[in-house]
Amino acid sequence: MAKRIRIFDTTLRDGEQSPGCSMNLSEKCEVARQLARLGVDVIEAGFAIASPGDFEAISEIAKIVKGCQVASLARSVQKDIDAAYNAVKHAEAPLIHIFIATSPIHMQYKLRMTPEQVLERAVEATKYAKSLCSEVEFSCEDATRSELPFLAQVVQKVIEAGATVINIPDTVGYTTPAEMTERIKYLRENVPDVDKVHLSVHCHNDLGMAVANSLAAVAAGATQVEGTINGIGERAGNAALEEVIMALHTRKNFFNATCNVDTTQIYRTSRLISNIIGQPIPPNKAIVGANAFAHESGIHQHGVLAERSTYEIMTPQSIGLLTNKMVLGKHSGRHAVEERLKELGYTLSKEELDSLFEKFKKLADQKKNISDSDLEALADDRQVEKPGVYKLERYVVNCGKAMTATAVIGLEKDGVVTEGVAAGTGPVDAAYKAIESIVGPDFTLTHYAIQSVSEGEDSLGEVVVRLKRGDHVATGRGLSTDIIESSLLAYINGVNKLLQQA
Ligand code: KIV
Ligand code: ZN
Repeated sequence: MAKRIRIFDTTLRDGEQSPGCSMNLSEKCEVARQLARLGVDVIEAGFAIASPGDFEAISEIAKIVKGCQVASLARSVQKDIDAAYNAVKHAEAPLIHIFIATSPIHMQYKLRMTPEQVLERAVEATKYAKSLCSEVEFSCEDATRSELPFLAQVVQKVIEAGATVINIPDTVGYTTPAEMTERIKYLRENVPDVDKVHLSVHCHNDLGMAVANSLAAVAAGATQVEGTINGIGERAGNAALEEVIMALHTRKNFFNATCNVDTTQIYRTSRLISNIIGQPIPPNKAIVGANAFAHESGIHQHGVLAERSTYEIMTPQSIGLLTNKMVLGKHSGRHAVEERLKELGYTLSKEELDSLFEKFKKLADQKKNISDSDLEALADDRQVEKPGVYKLERYVVNCGKAMTATAVIGLEKDGVVTEGVAAGTGPVDAAYKAIESIVGPDFTLTHYAIQSVSEGEDSLGEVVVRLKRGDHVATGRGLSTDIIESSLLAYINGVNKLLQQA
């Protein structure tokens, strides 16, 4: 019988803690709801002790998410474990995830502890976590550079202390698939109680082998894989879960394994995260890249037309990509727009739909055909206008060769329009400086990206910015057929989000 592999998602912890990937509370909750729809077994919602914001997000996610375990990370110390437990305790299925490093290099230089002290601390921490919560995962940090006999000893002792999941992280992305196979086999043969727990792996991608190492571990007997959507995470990231899931799905017979995920939610999940953190997905990215199901070469197209399986090992539908592209236009009614959005996986509130439909009509005046990509972009950009925020009222931006770019921007807030004027090194720089002269200087632009949403000259230009204000960060998005307007809207959107967070 095919074995069941648990999928442990750490997008909101290992993913979110990496540079440029931070999310605010409502974004984290939206991601968690989508991960539950995807059907992951565990959502690691954060590291409770790390900050009050992390604690609040984990508690909120624990309360709203149903159908999967909600975990918080904790070091092997009492105050971390208390914080983790207090954050997850209201979940339907809480899990405390504790860790300590077991490699000689980490024990000597980072922890300054002997192996005996590490073992004792690991056992103590597991017992303490178990006294609070029945589900405890124990991770041996830097496991792939740990000595095998010591690793096996720690694993056996923490199982005896009550751990229900044992995780073997490749913390620095150093191992290879063959070594991972050996390590998992060794643990299966040398830890007497190994069959009483789920055996997990958590691979980083420094050498580009995170997914291969995770799958090698599954083939060797691991029963849980940890990773993140789109592979986001520390340094080169974590194992991309959409790749792990689709490898298990497509090569079911080879792995003799299945997982409980609804693969048709993969595309939506990947897109949601990319939009929230403002990191576009490279076109050639496996599974979710724009070209993953595109056949350009004549020979391939010919083969696919004759028989899809010649060049297609999985269908676009299996990841939730709709292929019957419906084109909407200015004569399309609200109902048609709402229905198509539902087919694309969006459920909007009445207010969100009202505001989206208004933007849809405006766009339909500018371009003849509104594609699924346009509609998805409008839905991802949905915002209900709130009082006390800035709105773009008018703008003039001038630029050209051998002249200084200048901008005059009018922003409306609470019925009052304020004008800002500035010069800059280019049109966007001038426009942003003019906005800054109105909203104040404490917003720092840390990231700016522009891409076209669909094909053709009248394509929508989507701008995503990241702004920082003190300790807060926000992603701003702007959408227009005019890229200067998209740039302005994105910046204003980011400023509004930061003002609302304050
Ligand atoms: O990479 C790692 O070792 C981790 C652990 C805390 C599980 O993220
Ligand atoms: Zn990690």
